[in-house]
Order: sequence, then C-alpha cells, then structure tokens
Amino acid sequence: MDQKNPFVIGSDIPVEYFCDRESEVALLQKHIENGRNVVLTSPRRFGKSGLIHHLFKQPKIKKKYATFFVDIYATKSLDEFIYEMSKSIQRVYAQKKSWYKRFFDIVSTLRFAFKLDSSTGEPSFELKLGEIKSPQKTLDEIIEYLESEKTPCIVAIDEFQQVCEYENSNVEALLRTKIQQCNNTRFIFAGSRQHIMRDMFFSRNKPFYQSAVSMNLDVIPQDVYCEFAQRMFLNKGKKVEPEAVRRVYSLFDGTTWFVQMVMNELFALTPEKGVCPEDFVGVALQNIILMQEPQYRDMLAMFPARQKMLLLAIAQEGVAHEVTSGAFVAKYGLSSSSSVQASLKGLKNKLVLSEENGSYRLSDYFFAYWLKQR
Ligand SMILES: Nc1ncnc2c1ncn2[C@@H]1O[C@H](COP(=O)(O)OP(=O)(O)OP(=O)(O)O)[C@@H](O)[C@H]1O
Ligand SMILES: [Mg+2]
Repeated sequence: MDQKNPFVIGSDIPVEYFCDRESEVALLQKHIENGRNVVLTSPRRFGKSGLIHHLFKQPKIKKKYATFFVDIYATKSLDEFIYEMSKSIQRVYAQKKSWYKRFFDIVSTLRFAFKLDSSTGEPSFELKLGEIKSPQKTLDEIIEYLESEKTPCIVAIDEFQQVCEYENSNVEALLRTKIQQCNNTRFIFAGSRQHIMRDMFFSRNKPFYQSAVSMNLDVIPQDVYCEFAQRMFLNKGKKVEPEAVRRVYSLFDGTTWFVQMVMNELFALTPEKGVCPEDFVGVALQNIILMQEPQYRDMLAMFPARQKMLLLAIAQEGVAHEVTSGAFVAKYGLSSSSSVQASLKGLKNKLVLSEENGSYRLSDYFFAYWLKQR
C-alpha cells in the first residue's frame, strides 16, 4: 500500500521513508561482520530501535544472517526475557513448517508449547508466560539452538538496561556467561538509560565489562534531515519551505521522534500540490499538543505537589540551570533547596527529566510546551 504520509511514526520504518543513518548502519554492519557485539546507546527517541530494524533490512545482512529483534522493555524477570526471546524467534520462522521440529528438538523444555491443530495439521507454538519452568535450562537451549543455525545470527536486545531491574540479581552474570560462549551469534544491546548502560558495560566489576564495542547514536544532522524532509514532500507532489524544516529541527534540538511528529502533521496540513510555509509550524505543534492533552493531564495528576511545582518551573525555563540555588527556589516559590533536591530525585527516577552538565529539561518536549502554556 502506498503510504500517504511519508513521515512515519514507529520504529520499523520502510526504507524509502527512512532518513540517512548511512554511516551508522555501515559501522554497525562492520562491527557485526568482524564478530563484535555492540552496545548502542543514545538519549530517548533518537532512533536506536529504528536503526536496528533498518540494519536488518540491508540486503547484505538479510542474505548472510538470521536476525532477531527482542524488545525487553516490559520484562521483569528471566522468564519474561526468555518468553520474549522465543517469541521473536517464532516471529521470524512462523511461516516455515520444518522450523518447529528443529527448534523443539533442541529447546526441549518448551516442547509442551508445541501444538498441532487436530483438523488442519498446522503446527503452532503457544507459549504463555508462567509456563517457563526452568528458565536457565531454556536459555541454554535457546542459545544452543541459535548456535546450531546454519546461518550466523544477530540478536538485538532492545531496552537492555531492563535486565538490571530483574528480581533475580544474577541474570546479568548468567547472560554474560552464555553470550560469551557464542560463536555463531552476535548481539546488539540497545538502551536509552545511558548511565545504566555505561555502568553495565564499562565498569570493571560488572559482568558485561568489555564484552561489546560501544556506539553512541547522535541526532541526524540538520542539513541531512532538511534535504530528506524536502525530498519527502516533493515525492508526494508537495513542497515545504526549508525554513519550516529548520525551525522544527531547532525546536527539538533535532530529536528525531519530535521532529518527525511535527513534520508528519505539517505534511497533513499542506494541501495537495501545496507549499508548507514556516508559519504552519506553530499550528502543527498546537494540534499535536491538543491530541496529547488528555494523557498529559493524567500524567501531571500523578506527581506529588512539590514535584509538580518543580516540573512547572523547569518547563518555564526550557533548560533550567542551578535548580537548587536560592535564586531558582525564590523565583518559582519552591519551598527550599533541599526539597528541590528530593523532588529532582523523584522526577529523575520517573524519567521525565533529562540532565546535561547539571542543567535540566523535560525529556518530552511536547509535555513541556503544554505545561508552559498552562
Ligand atoms: N532514520 C530515521 N528516519 C525517519 N524517522 C526516524 C528515523 N529514526 C527514527 N525515526 C523516528 O523517530 C522515532 C523514534 O525512533 P526510535 O523508536 O527508533 O528511537 P529510540 O532511540 O529507539 O527511542 P526510545 O529510546 O524511546 O526507545 C520513530 O518513531 C520514527 O518516527
Ligand atoms: Mg527504542
């Protein structure tokens, strides 16, 4: 189906609507081909997941490797990790009937989840959470299965920092041991909680120390994004003023998701064969904020009063410096420097703030605009 709007939201973007990332894809590919595992980090919404999906679509990769994308964002234990891993293997092979036999020959602990439809004879794999009884053994078997594949495998584990939150604290060590033994399988570990990821892979006393090369994803450069956005409009018989794209880019410091969201709306606002002027940007932003408003209301209601006050203050500033200083406390009528400290900690834990060199801003630019308008 022809996609109407070329600014696609979602991490699996069709190649024709994917912007640049050529050198990043080439570097990832080089690491993999040279047998290195990669740890891929960036702040949220820069495009890590998209980059991995895009890598997996490269003809050279498709030809040479079996690729698996495992998102462990919502997992809380090794059982759930294994559940996601087996599901992603199944997604790749579901069409091949012969696959089931080989998989369950090796992964014997999950054999109970193999079903044959009594009328059609169709095989299926129906695993429910809570059915994984011996996760360590299952993990061994899954790795053994990947290692026995004829083609080499790439396993991308997205939101990998989640492993640190598992109830059982030795999962990190367990995974490291398994992964270290792999010859046929390369791993990409992606994550947006950069300090946790860094700590996992670059602290001497951590299991994953020196087990992967590091790649940090930056935003797409402004000129490159600008050229892309104009080309997307042109391909659909529309035009966009370059100033409009630059304005959007700078509003969000190039952060891909926010930029794409607004460009998507700008494209929608532009009539057939029309031109998108710079002053559509304000309208587009307003439309998006309106769409998100109910969610923002709910979000705001969940913060304790002091955290809410601090959040509002930071949103007013855009980027807030020295938030625990007497001047900042006085300017926004916050109760004290120590209470700001406590609220800061709370907000950081909830991932609503981004910190850079001791200054803070809201991670969600749209939420920040909405707060500022109130
Ligand atoms: N190269 C690209 N071309 C076009 N759009 C992109 C590109 N990369 C990312 N995007 C857009 O940015 C959004 C965020 O990308 P993605 O989900 O890959 O980021 P992420 O770094 O994995 O974010 P998170 O940290 O939240 O998981 C996507 O929904 C998509 O709209
Ligand atoms: Mg992601």
